[in-house]
Amino acid sequence: MTSLGKVAAEKPDIIVPARGPAIGDPRAAIDRLLGRIRAAYANYLSIDALRWYFKDDHILAKARRVLGPEAKVDWMPMAETRPLPPWIAAISNSRLIIAADRSGFLVDCGGTGIIEELRKLKAAGKLASVEHVFITHYHDDHTDAVAALVAEFGAKVHACGRQVPVLERPGDFRLPCLTRNPIAVTCRHPDGDSWMWKEFKLTIREFPGQTLYHDALLVEREGHEPVLFAGDSFTPSGIDDYCLQNRNFLGEGAGYLLCLGIVEALPPGSWLVNQHVEPMFRFDAGRIERMRRTLRDRRPLLAALLPFDDPNFGLDEGWAVLHPYAVHLGGVRRRPWSCGSRTIPRRSGSSAPPSGRLMDSRRAAPARSGSPPGRGGDPLLPPDRRCVAGAPGRHGRRGLGRRRAPGVGRGPRGGEGMMRLLKYLFWVGGKEPPPPFPDPGVDPTGDRLSCIAGRSAGRRDAKYTGKSQVDGSNQRAASAASPASTHRRSR
Ligand SMILES: [Fe+2]
Repeated sequence: MTSLGKVAAEKPDIIVPARGPAIGDPRAAIDRLLGRIRAAYANYLSIDALRWYFKDDHILAKARRVLGPEAKVDWMPMAETRPLPPWIAAISNSRLIIAADRSGFLVDCGGTGIIEELRKLKAAGKLASVEHVFITHYHDDHTDAVAALVAEFGAKVHACGRQVPVLERPGDFRLPCLTRNPIAVTCRHPDGDSWMWKEFKLTIREFPGQTLYHDALLVEREGHEPVLFAGDSFTPSGIDDYCLQNRNFLGEGAGYLLCLGIVEALPPGSWLVNQHVEPMFRFDAGRIERMRRTLRDRRPLLAALLPFDDPNFGLDEGWAVLHPYAVHLGGVRRRPWSCGSRTIPRRSGSSAPPSGRLMDSRRAAPARSGSPPGRGGDPLLPPDRRCVAGAPGRHGRRGLGRRRAPGVGRGPRGGEGMMRLLKYLFWVGGKEPPPPFPDPGVDPTGDRLSCIAGRSAGRRDAKYTGKSQVDGSNQRAASAASPASTHRRSR
């Protein structure tokens, strides 16, 4: 916004952008762009989950930087709240469901402090065991200590859908706040699976709210309204979509619109639990409709700002992913985006290294003290998957290198960029024709090619602007500097 103001202050007669046609009426173009940015930002703020954490003054200060000094936000009214029932204990950002026989079912385990609290409950005779743990999503503040919990308490780990491979093989993914501690999911459920545990009926759902890889657990118990453990997806003020790299896609049946449909279909009176929010809360039909309408309005607002056919390409910095992102060729480790065209032949054939094979990208992950064993080898990869997803590094005279995916397309049509990238995906070795790419069995994003990106998530975060600046490590710093930093939420 400031930059546009500076350009406008120069009163240019014409603007010649680095790409696209010259702009003959700069004043009108700048005003139009400012208006579009403001409309999208006002839409975003109106159902922003962060309002619950940071309170109105904080959000208003941000709003006025963009919307103007007198700006007000047309907020959705806060949802109804209620304290947790006695059979749900809050332990940091975990929640413990305690059965009548004092057995425990934990929701998330992001730190060893939680395990210490469980020990105390056990020593006090309030908890007999921790039989199970359900994981809402892969963020490290929800997962880092799951392996330690399993080792000490023998808990079975529950998750479903696209989140499972992220938990089991985090080294295969480039996501912010991703745990580095692989988790063996002992109970993999299909979406919608229901089962009984003690006096509770449990139903697991894929729930792509705060992140694309996210689950929720509905807990029903006689004598109490059902409770949906919905991770970080909602707060009483709305939806948690402040981090671009969490990938909150817009569209019917996707992202938050899918989640809202699930929430709307819950048994009457159901409560939601976000473990960063002390009370339970629930949205009435009016609030659900308000969020749904806001998301539907958002799509054309973003489409007006973005050069892609589908605005979701603008919501996903790494919309093209090479999966896995490291390969072994002739005993030499390569990452696709660093492979030169002279290093890797473009097509399969006699010139291909005969020993070309996929490697477990966990090997490529930086070593970390305290990491559990098992980074070597790859029992999970099928033996016939002999492939190189190789980007030769140049397209014509233009380097692909570490260029971000939207830059590959360069033009206004994201689909063209995708096709260009596809030209550089090829197979080496094996007698069978290559399977389609992306392979839904390997790439859990299913409908999306996965990613060309920089090497360091931290460095990428530093490049972010606007709301994304509060992501990852930068967000921690932002939270620490904030007056609202006393709340325990980090993401
Ligand atoms: Fe969290």
